[in-house]
Amino acid sequence: MLDLSSLAGYPLKFDPATVGLSFGSAMRMPQYSTRELDALRPVLLDSDATGPEVIYWMFRNTGMPQDAGLYEAHHLRYDISAFQPCMLGREYMKTSGHYHPMIPGTRYAYPEVYEVLHGEALYIMQSVDDYAASPDDVVVTDVILCRVQAGQKIVMPPGYGHVTVNTLDEPLLMSNWVSSRFSSFYGTTEAARGFAWYVVDNEGQPEYLENPNYRRGVPEMRWAEVREVPELGLAWDVPMYQACAGAPERFEFLNKPWAYEELIWANLDLQ
Ligand SMILES: [Fe+2]
Repeated sequence: MLDLSSLAGYPLKFDPATVGLSFGSAMRMPQYSTRELDALRPVLLDSDATGPEVIYWMFRNTGMPQDAGLYEAHHLRYDISAFQPCMLGREYMKTSGHYHPMIPGTRYAYPEVYEVLHGEALYIMQSVDDYAASPDDVVVTDVILCRVQAGQKIVMPPGYGHVTVNTLDEPLLMSNWVSSRFSSFYGTTEAARGFAWYVVDNEGQPEYLENPNYRRGVPEMRWAEVREVPELGLAWDVPMYQACAGAPERFEFLNKPWAYEELIWANLDLQ
């Protein structure tokens, strides 16, 4: 068992051998759900891929009892997700990929912020012209890829759907703060069999394959690195849980992104 408490900012242990989590006894008991291989098949390059039955675990609305008010008072929720190190056919383990809805009365969708707690994440972020359009019609307007190491934080900008990929031979653990006001949706993801690019193994190295189901083509991927944005509570030496629990007003950008657009994009150093 690894003690990740100082990195996570609350009592948390993690067993990389079993991908098992142990929350401190004082903590609110999180609800959890699993994503199973069969549920992922519609978005895989190879829908017949074999792999573990459970690909990842999602623990919703975790935290210390004294921070339970953040959900109601600031509309913020802290989740943790744990991912297997596994291949899904030629593809590295990945999440289903989803979009967030528009914030009512605005032209902004809800953003989200992730922190890697163990391993390394590869995020694929993509924007489209019309969430409801079929793969024949949808135009993918941008694709950004970014690798994030333990302790680093990354904002999924408003309007960008996101997939998390684990290209390492060890489990990935990550957390997120996100608005408690919405539910994610898949948009065209399942009809298109995934996002615009697949990440596959080529003799031990990641290779990127265009998804041919987007009939109008896909844009070249842009690579980014993450930068600290202390104004948004995103510094590498401060656990994101504590940053928000201690100053939830700094995470207002998750519910009012239009007021923080420059700072949100300052987190991504586009190459
Ligand atoms: Fe999300």
